[in-house]
This record gives sequence, structure tokens and C-alpha cells, in this order.
Amino acid sequence: MSESDPLLLRAARGESVERPPVWMMRQAGRYMKVYRELRDRHPSFRERSENPELSYEISMQPFEAFQPDGVILFSDILTPLPGMGIEFDIVESKGPLIQDPIKTLDQIKNLRPLEPQQSMSFVGEVLGRLRNSVGNKAAVLGFVGAPWTLAAYVVEGKSSKNYAVIKAMAFQEPELLHKLLDHFAKSIATYLRYQIDSGAQVVQMFDSWAGQLSPIDYDTFAAPYQKKVVELLKETHPDTPVILYISGSAGVIERMGNTGVDIVSLDWTVDMADGCRRLPKHIGIQGNVDPGLLFGTPEAIRSRIVDAVLKAKGRKHILNLGHGILPGTPEENAKVFFEAGKGVNDLIRAVT
Ligand code: CP3
Repeated sequence: MSESDPLLLRAARGESVERPPVWMMRQAGRYMKVYRELRDRHPSFRERSENPELSYEISMQPFEAFQPDGVILFSDILTPLPGMGIEFDIVESKGPLIQDPIKTLDQIKNLRPLEPQQSMSFVGEVLGRLRNSVGNKAAVLGFVGAPWTLAAYVVEGKSSKNYAVIKAMAFQEPELLHKLLDHFAKSIATYLRYQIDSGAQVVQMFDSWAGQLSPIDYDTFAAPYQKKVVELLKETHPDTPVILYISGSAGVIERMGNTGVDIVSLDWTVDMADGCRRLPKHIGIQGNVDPGLLFGTPEAIRSRIVDAVLKAKGRKHILNLGHGILPGTPEENAKVFFEAGKGVNDLIRAVT
């Protein structure tokens, strides 16, 4: 609780702040020219995200370009999988591919509990370096994938349109899926503890594909494991703010608020005012600007930021997009987003 803590950390704790902090999901990546140039020199995603020099350099690219209030580790939600015995790759224009998708109880029994100090020391190194570099100018963010979304990848074997394979498992052999989800929940909690011990000050859990579940199944396959991760983490790290993001979450917003997380990250299909009304006052809010808006004019971007900030007034709020920034987004529009976010008080004065 010090004056000199970064704005995003103070805001996430619920302290009163001069303006909402701003960062972007997927703020490092393909829309940036420096990233594409580095990718040409290092075509393997696993190398870019697991070589600490490269992961550090990429994490810092958006900070150097735009000075966001948060710097997120450059990594992927799938990065812990090899440490549990599941090999993957990310293939250009195809996305994630799992070598040996999980189908049987034997495969689940053979999974190892994650020991991040052993299998992922590169992450600890990068987070420590990021903390040293950004000091109090930005908060360092860690992140993980939630059990349901990780299970969706390892059972489907790749990105999916309709999630038929994992739903077949859910509705034919639920005990099998529950064992897998439970394994992930424990390992992911261990991983989050490691990220925080290494320098992460705020952490986000991505349950990106939990919005594919009916609420009744969200309550069975997603929420209990989100809760388990949060409970295990809070036992040892009660003061680190936790954010939960789901894509397509409009049907489960109230449920997200009941998982024990501190902040709910909304996508853009719900109005910010409605999202706030549907969550108790003590839950903070992040989001929910349409990433597609960054293909629009600077005026359009600014006016939606003002709209989001005014509607979230009175509760803890972190300004962000409603999902990751899209490849092909003009970099100058990312700059407009960050500048408008930082200058939002002036923009509001100008319109009221
Ligand atoms: O926010 C950041 O800047 C940190 C980087 C980050 C990446 N992945 C890097 C990445 C984060 C936070 C993620 C999380 C992630 N990964 C999620 C949750 C967030 C979300 O978007 O819902 C998911 C579902 C994944 C799985 C994954 N990894 C997908 C669907 C893809 C995209 C495939 C594609 O080609 O579009 C990836 C690959 C990936 N992870 C890229 C990046 C920058 C793109 C590939 C590349 O740069 O070569």
C-alpha cells in the first residue's frame, strides 16, 4: 500500500485513483511491426515465448511504444502444458496444435503436477526482469488459462468451432473430464503462485471458451475449477488482485462475480452500465471496448472510451478491450487508444 505502487495495482486493489489504468489484452503481437520483424528472425512461437531474452524483449515492445499502465508477460496459456507432459506447438495460420490429444483415463493419470521452478524457470526470469525494468511506471501482469479452456485445447487437440469433442467427453464421460479439470486447477494455482513470487503484481485468468457452455454446464465444468484456482491461490497470496476473463460471457456475468475473483473482464457484447449493474459493488470491472473499434477513426475510439469510463464510474475500473487486439490493427490506433485512456479526464471535461 505505498504511494509509489503502480496505478494499475492501486486501482485493482480498490484504492481511489486519479484515472482508470489502461492496458490491452494481447498488447504484444502481430499488429506491431517490431514484433513481426522479430518473428521473421525467430519463427518458432515456442522459442519466442520460452527463450527469456525474447519473451522479455517482446513483453517490453508495447511498453516502449505506448507506455501502458500494465505490462503483461509474453507467453501463452498453453506454455505450462509440456511441464505436465503434454506437448504442443503453435502453427502459423492454424493456431495451437496438441501432439497427443487427451482421450483416456490412462493419459490423465500419467499427467505430472506442474513444478514451475523446474519446467518454467524462464517465466520467473522474465517476470523478475520486467519488474526491475518498469519499476512503478507500470504493473507487471501474469496470466494463466483456466482449467476448462486448457481442457478444451488438450481434448480437442486444436482450436475448435463447436467444441464437439470436449462436449462429447463432458456429456458421456464427465468423471474423466472432472479428473482432468482437477489436475489443471491444482497445477494452475501452483503456476500462479510462482508467477507472483517471481514479480507478477496482478494476475488474469483467461477462461476464453467458457462462454461456449450453457450456464448449467458452466456451473459444472468451468466455475468450480475457476473457484478452486482462486481459493488455492488466495490461501497463500491473498493480496494479489485476480481478474477473470471469458469471451461471450454475457449469459454468465453474475456467475463470474461469484468465483472469488476481484475483477471481472467483460467483452463488448454487454453494455458497460448493464455489466456493472449485474455485479456487486465490491467486484471491479475491466474491458469492454470492442477490439474492432481500433479499425475506426480516432474520434470513434475516443468517444467509446469516454462512454466506458463514465458508465464504470464509482467502481474500480481497468480500461481494456473486450478481447485481444486483432492482427492487422493499425498501430497508430493502438496509440490513440492508450493516449485517450490516459487523457480520459480531459476528454470527459471536454464533453460534459
Ligand atoms: O496479452 C499479451 O500480450 C500476452 C500474450 C498472450 C498470447 N497468448 C500470445 C500469443 C496471451 C495473454 C495469450 C493467451 C491466450 N492464448 C489465450 C487467452 C486469450 C484469448 O485470446 O482469449 C488463448 C485462447 C490462447 C491460445 C492461442 N494461442 C490462440 C487461440 C492463438 C492464436 C492463433 C493464431 O494464429 O491466431 C495463440 C497464439 C498466440 N499467442 C499468438 C500470440 C501473440 C499469435 C501467434 C504468433 O504471434 O505467432
